Amino acid sequence: MAYISTEWKGKEYFPIHDFHHVEYFVGNAKQAVHFYRSAFGFEPHAYCGPETGVREKVSYVLKKNKQFFIFTTPLCSDHPGSDWLKNHGDGIYDIAMSVDCDQTAYDSCIARGAKGVDTPNVITDENGEYGKSSIKTYGETIHSFIYDSNYNGHWAPGFKPLDLPHIPNQDTHLITIDHIVGNVEEGKMDEWQEFYEKVFGFTTFVRFDETDISTQYSALKSIVVRSKNWKVKLPINEPASGKKKSQIEEYLDFNEGPGVQHVAILTNDIIKSIIALRANGVDFLDVPDTYYDSLEDRVGPIDEDLEELKKLKILVDRDEEGYLLQLFTKPLEDRPTLFIEIIQRKGSRGFGQGNFQALFESIEREQELRGNL
Ligand code: FE2
Repeated sequence: MAYISTEWKGKEYFPIHDFHHVEYFVGNAKQAVHFYRSAFGFEPHAYCGPETGVREKVSYVLKKNKQFFIFTTPLCSDHPGSDWLKNHGDGIYDIAMSVDCDQTAYDSCIARGAKGVDTPNVITDENGEYGKSSIKTYGETIHSFIYDSNYNGHWAPGFKPLDLPHIPNQDTHLITIDHIVGNVEEGKMDEWQEFYEKVFGFTTFVRFDETDISTQYSALKSIVVRSKNWKVKLPINEPASGKKKSQIEEYLDFNEGPGVQHVAILTNDIIKSIIALRANGVDFLDVPDTYYDSLEDRVGPIDEDLEELKKLKILVDRDEEGYLLQLFTKPLEDRPTLFIEIIQRKGSRGFGQGNFQALFESIEREQELRGNL
């Protein structure tokens, strides 16, 4: 991926409106769906599988306010998802985006060097037009382009409404996907930055390295690329060398390559969200009490009660534009790979850079407990 010309910098070749959904491959979608409903408050939305004439897989679509998560399980060993699962375990394989025309999006990306996965296929039926195509990104992750603004059916052709028994839980007030982070191999971050700038016309707006984020033992480098309208934000991390194994390296080992590290979900009231998520049994990273000793000096006056933040172990960070509150779950699976971030923005468009140090130290304590440090 060596691009010679830089004429393409800063150009958006086709509008990307927002994240459309994320799709997971999981070993047992029926049970994963139960977890994401009971813990994160997602609601059943749509389904396809043998009952709808699909023989080789099942897909459950869950919805929470403006975000859609799909859980797909292959039903046979020769489905591509079976190899994917063998390599990576349960995880996110598709970060799908909403576009005006998937043919234009696909052709435009291919013309600038992207590798195709599924060529454009517009289905026209009594519900209107639905288009989908996809290209490769880091590891075995893909980006699908979804064109469904003229489609009035339920989710997508071939899906039916999903009706499941009620699960008692507390409302988590989670609104939409804020950003999705990928981990790539050491030395590859710049290539992927160039990929997103070149293929999507994205803008890089944050960059930090091991001088910003490091502990005695491990470090990371990170950049963030974004769409023109700021709706799609994709941070990319690579490990930096430390005395011991970086958390990004641990991810790469257990995921057997690059992949999605976390999805950040936006809330308008993080205190309500964290109370509900904790009541629903979500396990968050531990934050040392000492983090809160210096918090006021670091972030200045904030609207929230410091004691309440300390009790719920919510992190705070400030930049020139404002501040943000955030908290990270522990890995959601037995492989220490994918996790979820809960974030509330109060003016800040950052990612909690100031929290990385505190977070890193906290993650390393967990890593040490697993004997991987
Ligand atoms: Fe994040």
